[in-house]
Amino acid sequence: MSARSNAAQRQNQLKQAVADAAIDEIAPHLAADTIIGVGTGSTATLFIKALGKLKDRFAAAVASSDASAELLKAEGIDVVDLNSAGTLPFYVDGADEITPDFAMIKGGGAALTREKIVAAGSTTFICIADGSKLVDTLGQFPLPVEVIPMARSYVARELVKLGANPIYREGVTTDNGNQILDLYNFMIEDPVAMEDTLNGITGVVCNGLFAHRGADILLLGREDGVVRSERRASNA
Ligand code: 5RP
Repeated sequence: MSARSNAAQRQNQLKQAVADAAIDEIAPHLAADTIIGVGTGSTATLFIKALGKLKDRFAAAVASSDASAELLKAEGIDVVDLNSAGTLPFYVDGADEITPDFAMIKGGGAALTREKIVAAGSTTFICIADGSKLVDTLGQFPLPVEVIPMARSYVARELVKLGANPIYREGVTTDNGNQILDLYNFMIEDPVAMEDTLNGITGVVCNGLFAHRGADILLLGREDGVVRSERRASNA
């Protein structure tokens, strides 16, 4: 096996470990009427598969993407609309990058807008991530910006004025019928301020900075095991 496929296999094992840890985290709190918010991506997919084994212990899930909704249904889990679910006790999802302050870049799977909505509607955001996702400064991973299609070029010009290098993610339409611009090599010193700045551009639907509402609990898969940490009160 090549070094690269070894590394990918190890990363997958770490993703599995944090998915299992998230199950341990929520299992004591499940009740017949519990509805769980569920994210999108390869780590969230492992969580969904593990969640299937508990399907008789809670009511339903709200999915952050059509893809996750299909995976949940395949596990025999009812999927309900956020509008009929009320406040969710937990939202479990991965991240593309996360800082020690629990601000994140998300949206590598183009599901950022629904992920942000379901996270906003949840009491506790549990981020499940392998150790490679922990960074001091966000921005090595391209920051996704979801745009209304007719605004794409205008928004791109505004992003260039901010010093970004927006690249159209060709061939991708979000579940909301929109398009994605990815900002490469755009290092973000103040994620809360940048989240606001990007949201202020007309035609932007959402951006992949989860800073105002970061994670509450991080389950980080490291070589020495899963490390659980909670967001510091000063950032609450
Ligand atoms: C999808 C996301 C994912 O959470 C993020 O891309 C991490 O994905 P993975 O678990 O596959 O590394 O934000 O829009």
